[in-house]
Amino acid sequence: MKNISIFGTGAVGRTLGTKLVQLGHRVMMGSRTKDNEKAMEWADKNGQNALYGNFEDAAEFSNIIINCTKGAITLEVFELAGINKLKNKIILDLSNPLDFSNGMPPSLYPQWSNTYSLGEAIQDKLPESKVVKSLNMVNCEVMADATLCGGSASMFICGNDDEAKKEIASILNEFGWTKIIDLGDIKGARGLESLLPIWVRLWSTTGNGHIAFDIVGL
Ligand SMILES: NC(=O)c1ccc[n+]([C@@H]2O[C@H](COP(=O)([O-])OP(=O)(O)OC[C@H]3O[C@@H](n4cnc5c(N)ncnc54)[C@H](OP(=O)(O)O)[C@@H]3O)[C@@H](O)[C@H]2O)c1
Repeated sequence: MKNISIFGTGAVGRTLGTKLVQLGHRVMMGSRTKDNEKAMEWADKNGQNALYGNFEDAAEFSNIIINCTKGAITLEVFELAGINKLKNKIILDLSNPLDFSNGMPPSLYPQWSNTYSLGEAIQDKLPESKVVKSLNMVNCEVMADATLCGGSASMFICGNDDEAKKEIASILNEFGWTKIIDLGDIKGARGLESLLPIWVRLWSTTGNGHIAFDIVGL
Protein backbone atom coordinates (compact mmCIF):
# COMPACT_ATOMS: atom_id res chain seq x y z
CA MET A 1 0.00 0.00 0.00
CA LYS A 2 1.29 3.44 -0.96
CA ASN A 3 0.11 6.90 0.00
CA ILE A 4 -0.60 8.76 -3.23
CA SER A 5 -1.85 12.33 -3.65
CA ILE A 6 -3.95 13.63 -6.47
CA PHE A 7 -4.18 17.30 -7.37
CA GLY A 8 -7.53 17.85 -9.05
CA THR A 9 -11.15 16.87 -8.62
CA GLY A 10 -12.15 16.54 -12.29
CA ALA A 11 -12.93 13.36 -14.20
CA VAL A 12 -9.26 12.36 -14.25
CA GLY A 13 -8.59 12.93 -10.56
CA ARG A 14 -11.71 11.04 -9.54
CA THR A 15 -11.17 8.14 -11.97
CA LEU A 16 -7.52 7.60 -11.01
CA GLY A 17 -8.28 8.15 -7.32
CA THR A 18 -10.98 5.49 -7.40
CA LYS A 19 -8.74 3.03 -9.23
CA LEU A 20 -5.84 3.57 -6.82
CA VAL A 21 -8.10 2.98 -3.81
CA GLN A 22 -9.43 -0.19 -5.49
CA LEU A 23 -5.82 -1.30 -5.95
CA GLY A 24 -5.30 -0.95 -2.18
CA HIS A 25 -3.59 2.45 -1.93
CA ARG A 26 -4.44 5.38 0.34
CA VAL A 27 -5.29 8.43 -1.72
CA MET A 28 -5.70 12.09 -0.83
CA MET A 29 -7.43 14.36 -3.32
CA GLY A 30 -6.35 18.00 -3.14
CA SER A 31 -8.11 21.09 -4.39
CA ARG A 32 -8.25 24.84 -3.72
CA THR A 33 -10.47 24.42 -0.66
CA LYS A 34 -10.68 21.87 2.13
CA ASP A 35 -14.39 21.33 1.49
CA ASN A 36 -14.55 20.80 -2.26
CA GLU A 37 -17.91 19.14 -2.96
CA LYS A 38 -16.58 16.82 -5.69
CA ALA A 39 -13.72 15.67 -3.44
CA MET A 40 -16.06 15.05 -0.49
CA GLU A 41 -18.49 13.09 -2.66
CA TRP A 42 -15.63 11.03 -4.10
CA ALA A 43 -14.28 10.29 -0.60
CA ASP A 44 -17.76 9.29 0.65
CA LYS A 45 -18.08 6.75 -2.16
CA ASN A 46 -14.59 5.27 -1.80
CA GLY A 47 -14.23 4.42 1.88
CA GLN A 48 -11.62 5.00 4.52
CA ASN A 49 -8.63 5.05 2.16
CA ALA A 50 -10.08 7.99 0.24
CA LEU A 51 -9.15 11.30 1.86
CA TYR A 52 -9.38 14.92 0.81
CA GLY A 53 -7.90 18.29 1.70
CA ASN A 54 -6.48 21.38 0.07
CA PHE A 55 -3.45 21.34 -2.24
CA GLU A 56 -1.10 21.92 0.72
CA ASP A 57 -2.54 18.97 2.64
CA ALA A 58 -2.18 16.76 -0.43
CA ALA A 59 1.41 17.94 -1.01
CA GLU A 60 2.29 16.88 2.55
CA PHE A 61 0.43 13.56 2.43
CA SER A 62 2.64 11.67 0.00
CA ASN A 63 5.92 11.52 -1.90
CA ILE A 64 4.01 10.79 -5.09
CA ILE A 65 1.66 13.42 -6.47
CA ILE A 66 -0.42 12.99 -9.60
CA ASN A 67 -1.20 16.31 -11.24
CA CYS A 68 -4.71 16.17 -12.70
CA THR A 69 -5.47 19.87 -12.97
CA LYS A 70 -6.45 22.01 -15.92
CA GLY A 71 -3.40 22.86 -18.02
CA ALA A 72 -4.09 26.60 -18.17
CA ILE A 73 -3.82 26.96 -14.37
CA THR A 74 -1.61 24.05 -13.43
CA LEU A 75 1.47 26.15 -12.60
CA GLU A 76 -0.62 28.21 -10.14
CA VAL A 77 -1.68 25.01 -8.40
CA PHE A 78 1.94 24.25 -7.48
CA GLU A 79 2.24 27.73 -5.94
CA LEU A 80 -0.85 27.00 -3.85
CA ALA A 81 0.53 23.61 -2.79
CA GLY A 82 3.84 25.16 -1.75
CA ILE A 83 6.97 24.65 -3.80
CA ASN A 84 9.03 23.78 -0.69
CA LYS A 85 6.57 21.08 0.31
CA LEU A 86 7.14 19.38 -3.04
CA LYS A 87 10.95 19.18 -2.75
CA ASN A 88 12.34 15.72 -3.66
CA LYS A 89 8.85 14.44 -4.41
CA ILE A 90 7.72 12.68 -7.56
CA ILE A 91 5.14 14.55 -9.63
CA LEU A 92 3.38 12.49 -12.26
CA ASP A 93 2.09 15.15 -14.65
CA LEU A 94 -0.69 14.20 -17.05
CA SER A 95 -2.02 17.68 -17.73
CA ASN A 96 -2.26 19.13 -21.22
CA PRO A 97 -1.74 22.72 -22.34
CA LEU A 98 -5.12 22.86 -24.07
CA ASP A 99 -6.67 26.20 -24.92
CA PHE A 100 -10.46 25.93 -25.30
CA SER A 101 -11.01 29.69 -25.61
CA ASN A 102 -11.90 29.39 -29.30
CA GLY A 103 -14.14 26.36 -28.79
CA MET A 104 -13.54 22.87 -30.15
CA PRO A 105 -11.12 21.54 -31.15
CA PRO A 106 -8.78 23.05 -28.60
CA SER A 107 -5.34 24.28 -29.62
CA LEU A 108 -2.07 24.00 -27.70
CA TYR A 109 -1.02 27.17 -25.87
CA PRO A 110 1.93 28.51 -27.89
CA GLN A 111 4.00 29.27 -24.76
CA TRP A 112 3.92 25.57 -23.85
CA SER A 113 4.36 23.91 -27.22
CA ASN A 114 6.87 23.17 -29.96
CA THR A 115 10.05 24.40 -28.23
CA TYR A 116 8.72 24.02 -24.66
CA SER A 117 5.99 22.10 -22.82
CA LEU A 118 3.89 22.16 -19.70
CA GLY A 119 5.87 19.21 -18.34
CA GLU A 120 9.10 21.23 -18.64
CA ALA A 121 7.44 24.33 -17.21
CA ILE A 122 6.43 22.32 -14.13
CA GLN A 123 9.96 20.92 -13.78
CA ASP A 124 11.39 24.45 -14.13
CA LYS A 125 8.98 25.72 -11.47
CA LEU A 126 9.89 22.80 -9.16
CA PRO A 127 13.63 22.30 -9.78
CA GLU A 128 14.00 20.11 -6.69
CA SER A 129 11.08 17.83 -7.54
CA LYS A 130 11.11 14.89 -9.93
CA VAL A 131 8.60 15.51 -12.69
CA VAL A 132 7.54 12.54 -14.80
CA LYS A 133 5.22 12.98 -17.77
CA SER A 134 2.95 10.15 -18.82
CA LEU A 135 -0.71 9.16 -19.42
CA ASN A 136 -1.65 12.57 -20.88
CA MET A 137 -2.36 11.11 -24.34
CA VAL A 138 -5.22 8.75 -23.39
CA ASN A 139 -8.56 9.39 -21.76
CA CYS A 140 -8.94 8.86 -18.05
CA GLU A 141 -10.81 5.54 -18.28
CA VAL A 142 -8.01 4.16 -20.45
CA MET A 143 -5.35 5.64 -18.12
CA ALA A 144 -6.76 3.56 -15.27
CA ASP A 145 -7.39 0.42 -17.34
CA ALA A 146 -5.16 -0.12 -20.36
CA THR A 147 -7.14 -3.20 -21.42
CA LEU A 148 -10.06 -0.96 -22.49
CA CYS A 149 -8.29 -0.25 -25.77
CA GLY A 150 -7.43 -3.81 -26.67
CA GLY A 151 -4.32 -4.52 -24.63
CA SER A 152 -1.47 -3.88 -27.09
CA ALA A 153 -1.14 -0.13 -26.66
CA SER A 154 2.08 1.66 -25.79
CA MET A 155 2.43 4.10 -22.92
CA PHE A 156 5.09 6.78 -23.05
CA ILE A 157 7.00 8.13 -20.11
CA CYS A 158 9.68 10.80 -19.75
CA GLY A 159 11.44 12.69 -16.98
CA ASN A 160 14.90 13.57 -15.71
CA ASP A 161 15.06 11.10 -12.82
CA ASP A 162 15.34 7.37 -13.59
CA GLU A 163 14.22 6.21 -10.12
CA ALA A 164 11.13 8.41 -10.32
CA LYS A 165 10.31 6.95 -13.74
CA LYS A 166 10.65 3.43 -12.28
CA GLU A 167 8.28 4.28 -9.43
CA ILE A 168 5.71 5.69 -11.85
CA ALA A 169 6.15 2.74 -14.24
CA SER A 170 5.17 0.42 -11.37
CA ILE A 171 1.91 2.35 -10.97
CA LEU A 172 1.36 2.23 -14.74
CA ASN A 173 1.82 -1.56 -14.53
CA GLU A 174 -0.90 -1.66 -11.90
CA PHE A 175 -3.17 0.19 -14.36
CA GLY A 176 -2.47 -2.57 -16.91
CA TRP A 177 0.22 -0.83 -18.99
CA THR A 178 2.90 -3.34 -19.92
CA LYS A 179 4.51 -1.69 -22.98
CA ILE A 180 6.07 1.40 -21.48
CA ILE A 181 8.39 3.40 -23.72
CA ASP A 182 10.90 5.74 -22.09
CA LEU A 183 11.44 8.91 -24.13
CA GLY A 184 14.31 10.19 -22.00
CA ASP A 185 14.35 13.46 -20.14
CA ILE A 186 11.46 15.84 -19.48
CA LYS A 187 11.92 17.50 -22.88
CA GLY A 188 10.08 14.42 -24.18
CA ALA A 189 6.94 16.14 -22.86
CA ARG A 190 6.99 18.30 -26.01
CA GLY A 191 6.17 15.23 -28.08
CA LEU A 192 3.71 13.75 -25.58
CA GLU A 193 1.69 16.95 -25.38
CA SER A 194 1.82 17.31 -29.18
CA LEU A 195 -0.06 14.01 -29.48
CA LEU A 196 -3.22 15.73 -28.25
CA PRO A 197 -4.36 17.23 -31.57
CA ILE A 198 -4.17 13.74 -33.14
CA TRP A 199 -6.04 12.19 -30.21
CA VAL A 200 -8.80 14.83 -30.33
CA ARG A 201 -9.15 14.45 -34.10
CA LEU A 202 -9.38 10.65 -33.89
CA TRP A 203 -11.95 10.90 -31.13
CA SER A 204 -14.07 13.31 -33.15
CA THR A 205 -13.91 11.25 -36.35
CA THR A 206 -14.50 7.84 -34.71
CA GLY A 207 -16.53 8.77 -31.63
CA ASN A 208 -14.38 6.33 -29.68
CA GLY A 209 -12.49 7.57 -26.61
CA HIS A 210 -11.03 4.17 -25.76
CA ILE A 211 -8.07 4.61 -28.08
CA ALA A 212 -4.32 4.76 -27.56
CA PHE A 213 -1.10 4.85 -29.54
CA ASP A 214 0.76 1.65 -30.37
CA ILE A 215 4.39 1.87 -31.49
CA VAL A 216 5.51 -1.05 -33.63
CA GLY A 217 9.00 -2.00 -34.75
CA LEU A 218 10.76 -1.63 -31.39
N1 LIG B 1 -10.41 14.18 -19.22
C1 LIG B 1 -9.53 13.27 -19.68
O1 LIG B 1 -9.89 12.11 -19.94
C2 LIG B 1 -8.08 13.66 -19.84
C3 LIG B 1 -7.22 12.83 -20.57
C4 LIG B 1 -5.85 13.15 -20.66
C5 LIG B 1 -5.37 14.28 -19.99
N2 LIG B 1 -6.23 15.08 -19.31
C6 LIG B 1 -5.72 16.25 -18.62
O2 LIG B 1 -5.93 16.05 -17.22
C7 LIG B 1 -6.17 17.31 -16.58
C8 LIG B 1 -7.49 17.21 -15.79
O3 LIG B 1 -8.56 17.04 -16.69
P1 LIG B 1 -10.07 16.89 -16.18
O4 LIG B 1 -10.86 16.60 -17.40
O5 LIG B 1 -10.14 15.94 -15.04
O6 LIG B 1 -10.49 18.26 -15.55
P2 LIG B 1 -10.22 19.81 -15.85
O7 LIG B 1 -11.54 20.46 -15.96
O8 LIG B 1 -9.25 20.03 -16.96
O9 LIG B 1 -9.51 20.25 -14.47
C9 LIG B 1 -10.23 20.13 -13.29
C10 LIG B 1 -9.42 20.50 -12.10
O10 LIG B 1 -8.77 21.78 -12.28
C11 LIG B 1 -9.07 22.58 -11.13
N3 LIG B 1 -9.09 24.02 -11.45
C12 LIG B 1 -9.79 24.64 -12.42
N4 LIG B 1 -9.53 25.99 -12.38
C13 LIG B 1 -8.65 26.17 -11.35
C14 LIG B 1 -7.99 27.30 -10.81
N5 LIG B 1 -8.16 28.51 -11.33
N6 LIG B 1 -7.15 27.12 -9.77
C15 LIG B 1 -6.96 25.88 -9.24
N7 LIG B 1 -7.55 24.76 -9.71
C16 LIG B 1 -8.39 24.91 -10.75
C17 LIG B 1 -10.45 22.13 -10.70
O11 LIG B 1 -10.64 22.51 -9.36
P3 LIG B 1 -12.09 22.71 -8.70
O12 LIG B 1 -12.56 21.35 -8.25
O13 LIG B 1 -11.80 23.59 -7.55
O14 LIG B 1 -12.98 23.30 -9.74
C18 LIG B 1 -10.32 20.64 -10.89
O15 LIG B 1 -9.64 20.07 -9.79
C19 LIG B 1 -6.18 18.35 -17.69
O16 LIG B 1 -4.92 18.98 -17.77
C20 LIG B 1 -6.44 17.54 -18.95
O17 LIG B 1 -5.91 18.14 -20.14
C21 LIG B 1 -7.57 14.81 -19.24
